[in-house]
Amino acid sequence: MRKLLMAAGLALIGMNAVAQHEEHPYIPEPDKAVQQKLDEWQDWKFGMIIHWGPYSQWGVVESWSLCPEDEGFTQRKPYGIPYYDYLKKYEALGKSFNPVKFNPEHWAKAAADAGMKYMVFTTKHHDGYCMFDTKQTDYRITAPDVAFSKNPRANVAKEIFEAFRKEGVHTGAYFSKPDWNTEYYWWSYFPPKDRNPSYDISKYPERWNKFKQFTYNQIEELMTGYGKLEILWLDGGWVRPEKYQTAESRTWGTTKAQDQDIDMPKIAAMARSHQPGLIVVDRSVHSQYENYRTPEQQIPDKPLSYPWETCMTMGGSWSYVPNDQYKSVNTLIHNLVDIVAKGGNYLLNVGPGPDGELHDAAYTTMKGIGEWMHVNGDAIYATRAVAPYKDGKVCFTTKKDGSVYAIYLLDDQEKLPATITFKGLTPAKKARVEILGGAKSLVWKTVNGSTVINIPSAMQGKGFKHAVAIKISAVEKV
Ligand code: GLC
Repeated sequence: MRKLLMAAGLALIGMNAVAQHEEHPYIPEPDKAVQQKLDEWQDWKFGMIIHWGPYSQWGVVESWSLCPEDEGFTQRKPYGIPYYDYLKKYEALGKSFNPVKFNPEHWAKAAADAGMKYMVFTTKHHDGYCMFDTKQTDYRITAPDVAFSKNPRANVAKEIFEAFRKEGVHTGAYFSKPDWNTEYYWWSYFPPKDRNPSYDISKYPERWNKFKQFTYNQIEELMTGYGKLEILWLDGGWVRPEKYQTAESRTWGTTKAQDQDIDMPKIAAMARSHQPGLIVVDRSVHSQYENYRTPEQQIPDKPLSYPWETCMTMGGSWSYVPNDQYKSVNTLIHNLVDIVAKGGNYLLNVGPGPDGELHDAAYTTMKGIGEWMHVNGDAIYATRAVAPYKDGKVCFTTKKDGSVYAIYLLDDQEKLPATITFKGLTPAKKARVEILGGAKSLVWKTVNGSTVINIPSAMQGKGFKHAVAIKISAVEKV
């Protein structure tokens, strides 16, 4: 009996541990400089992520076609091509990379004009190809046998970061922890079976140690040779210590999850010794080194209780594909407003082509967003979430001075209605209510507990598009 009870007790403890484990509360970073930077980052709201690498020459998915898992996103073309034939061709892409129209100033200007305040660039994706001048591998854009290496701007990561900083845009480095090129991750003695190391880490710990050192060295290069970086965005969440595995992460890949510990405390300490206050985002690994969380291609239903950012493609894919279909400006602005009202940031992706240019659609889309941001930016930047966050087509944000924005989402072609009504927030008696880019003093009343704002008829015909921001100088305290 006692044994049974003990067993039951242990099972319970076990279950608790699992429950806690699955919950994975956000772990705040104690470093004050990081806290402060995170607070600033939450003011920026809108950023750009850029996926660019040798895969862009083929216009195929970034890296994933190398991964021997049979998923929709890993398929190779032509279908049926033997794996090693494909690998050889893919690797050769590293040498033929020659983006002769590379002009990061052009991207940076478009991003800044769109109102993007920060950017993140793929210095290395899972395929291991380095878009920076690393000394740890020859698989890099600056290697002497690469077409573009003779170009004075061959160290593209450096050029890109500098171009964006010149436009006043904060910079961050995307870096893939998994590396499908190095012998320390996909050791060629064994064929790769999935996204994970091709060998048993517990059997070959020295090899894994070399991988740790390799990763550390590359991140150190980035932290020391590329100017001020404010975010280290680490992708490839299956590289994680055993203790941070979740039910979900265990299902990734086809081989069993291994203890892929790269010593994040050491990496973060080193990185921050060079870049004080650096935000570290060890994506999807819910440790202290995930300073903010990154829902991918989705917007949470409700505000989250920790800093977060939705990353999303502006078109249909992360890396360049010919004729990519872009989301409409209307959709993107609605997404941005929705995200910001829930307290998040929006990181919008573009994929430059093999020549180094973006699709024309990327420029026109950013221009459209920029025109809206130019008028309405105050309702977005340096705001925080405020209840009720969203009521129907109205989203809310609040500024540090206590003023509130009610942002009405206009459908495509929709004209401003005669009244805008919402629940959950009431202007203070003497509040000044105005439309950004429009009427300075609006009349409002309370009807059955709802706030009803009258829109002057002159405003209704006035070409407002996508969303209108109504500023309320003060609201009733609830
Ligand atoms: C997905 C893709 C990966 C990409 C990332 C960006 O995880 O698989 O290739 O880099 O999204 O968020």
